[in-house]
Amino acid sequence: MRLWPRTIRWQMLAGLVLLEALSILLFAVLLISRQANEVHDRARLRLAHQATSMALQAREALRQQRPGWVGLSVAMMGETPGVRAAKVTDPAGNVLFSSVGEPVEMRLDAAEMAEIPLKHPGQAAVFDFGGTRMESVDAIYTGGDLRGYAWVETDRAWDYEQLNLIRRGTEIFGVIWVLASALLVLLMARAISRPLAVLHRGTRALMVAPDSESSFPLPVTVHNEFGDLIEAFNRMVASIKEQRAGLNNTLSLLDSMLANAPIGLAFFDRSGRFVRVNEVFAGMTGMPLNSHLGRTLPEVVPEAVAGQLEEMVQRVIATGEAVRDLELSGKRGRLNLPWTWLVSAYPVRPQPDEVRWTGLVVLDTTERKRSEEALRRTEKLAATGRLAASIAHEINNPLEAVTNLLYLLNHYCGLDGPALEYASMAELEVKRIAEITQQTLRFYRQSTLPARASMAELLDSILNLYQVRMHTLGIQLAKEYDPALDVFCSAGEVRQVVANLLMNAIDAMPGGGRLQVRARRSRSWATPGQRGVRITVADTGQGMDADVRTRIFEAFFTTKEETGTGLGLWVSHEIILKHHGLVHVRSRTAEGGKGSGTVFQLFFPDNQELASPAVQPVAAQAAV
Ligand SMILES: Nc1ncnc2c1ncn2[C@@H]1O[C@H](COP(=O)(O)OP(=O)(O)OP(=O)(O)O)[C@@H](O)[C@H]1O
Ligand SMILES: [Mg+2]
Repeated sequence: MRLWPRTIRWQMLAGLVLLEALSILLFAVLLISRQANEVHDRARLRLAHQATSMALQAREALRQQRPGWVGLSVAMMGETPGVRAAKVTDPAGNVLFSSVGEPVEMRLDAAEMAEIPLKHPGQAAVFDFGGTRMESVDAIYTGGDLRGYAWVETDRAWDYEQLNLIRRGTEIFGVIWVLASALLVLLMARAISRPLAVLHRGTRALMVAPDSESSFPLPVTVHNEFGDLIEAFNRMVASIKEQRAGLNNTLSLLDSMLANAPIGLAFFDRSGRFVRVNEVFAGMTGMPLNSHLGRTLPEVVPEAVAGQLEEMVQRVIATGEAVRDLELSGKRGRLNLPWTWLVSAYPVRPQPDEVRWTGLVVLDTTERKRSEEALRRTEKLAATGRLAASIAHEINNPLEAVTNLLYLLNHYCGLDGPALEYASMAELEVKRIAEITQQTLRFYRQSTLPARASMAELLDSILNLYQVRMHTLGIQLAKEYDPALDVFCSAGEVRQVVANLLMNAIDAMPGGGRLQVRARRSRSWATPGQRGVRITVADTGQGMDADVRTRIFEAFFTTKEETGTGLGLWVSHEIILKHHGLVHVRSRTAEGGKGSGTVFQLFFPDNQELASPAVQPVAAQAAV
């Protein structure tokens, strides 16, 4: 109901006023109608009595032949309280005497006229004309003759005066009663509505700002059941806050675990849709974190594994049992790099008998696999290096003997011309073998203590190693360096860096090309004034695109699936940094149509303080 008020206070007030108004009205109506009937009856009786008494007085006056007394009696009756007018008429209805002065034409209707003669003297007829007019009439007989009628008209206002008094009294009493009860109700309603308003404010504050400290505890202003209710509410809020704090702690623990765990975590609802993932998982799928929510596995992970993962999730939902350590692998990216995941799925139960979500734990084991693989390869290479060194060492002793023998043979007088030529040729070849064994040994036993090293010697020793391979592939070599150029460095490590660059350059030119190796005095392009040596290795190989170029210094990044470990440039970069050196790469593929190739520029500062004093051998050294 729209008109009905919405607050307790006004509802109580409206209800009370309505109820009281109705009951007072009912009471007044009953009382007043009863009183009105009584007043009416009394007025009829009085009027009848007055008409009869006036008729009797008129009869007596006529009997005593004193008609003047009739007028006197009429005048007296007119003065009686409650009488408006009195008059006496002849039997035809003509006014003979009237208390109001001038005679008034009286007209009785036919029914009245017919009734009047039937009446016996002393039995007045009363006519009620409605409103305030009521009249009574009695016949005047003398000795059986009708001499006229005595008429008395009442002033009903006088009769109703008392009734009005009662009504007015009832009205005043009603208004005072209603006002007093309204006041009482307002006070009572206030006692109820104030604590309710406090509770209402508290509930709203709890909903709008649950963590706000300012609204609680609510003030207890009354000491009754409502006060108890407010206190109970305060206790409930305090306990909710305590629980919420506990819950928040647990949630922040879980959130930080989810965000910082170095494993991919994802949660699915029963229809197999993502409900939550962490950054690591998003990194694995390559999609923004929020884009996962509401999607299914096939929409997010590579097709090759989506089916297996989905089956895992469904199995967990169906059986409620965890599925552990499933190894998945595939290839990704433009470079088709291999990856492996170790996946486990487990049920998440809000109730012991209900599996609502499935959690997926994904461990990216790609790096681990590759390091294991690289380690195996490095181990193999190191073993090969050790084997080569020991063979070189073993060869060295008999070689020394052969060298000595050839020396003796060369100086033996009994040899003729061609034999002497053969002997010196043999001596030259053996010398080459000795050089190769020396280099192999030097590579393995390379002293890593920094020292001043000849650049030409260092570069030559590497180039000699790859000479045959370059020749076979049809690679032209252009060397450009000053034999007197030297630099303070850890020669073995710089050799390793250059050897890596050379190997890469050779790998990039399987169909031949041009390789340029240059070294010269230079200044750092990062720290002006810093002197040192700049080594340039440039090839006309296939080159690299921007994607590859940005990743070449990452460990295990390789585009040579079968043969590369992806460690060459990573190790080289570490060595360059250790020497406080710089590296700069330019490369382009054949796509631009300008001819492909790669240029590596290295800068090694010639500063004894900058160079690291002691450098430990690196495992990858054997790979060179
Ligand atoms: N001169 C070059 N021309 C073209 N690509 C190159 C060149 N040098 C390096 N790269 C690219 O950089 C990648 C990384 O080189 P890096 O030497 O670190 O590893 P790798 O040669 O693949 O393997 P390894 O560990 O056996 O050296 C190579 O796989 C290759 O794609
Ligand atoms: Mg390499």
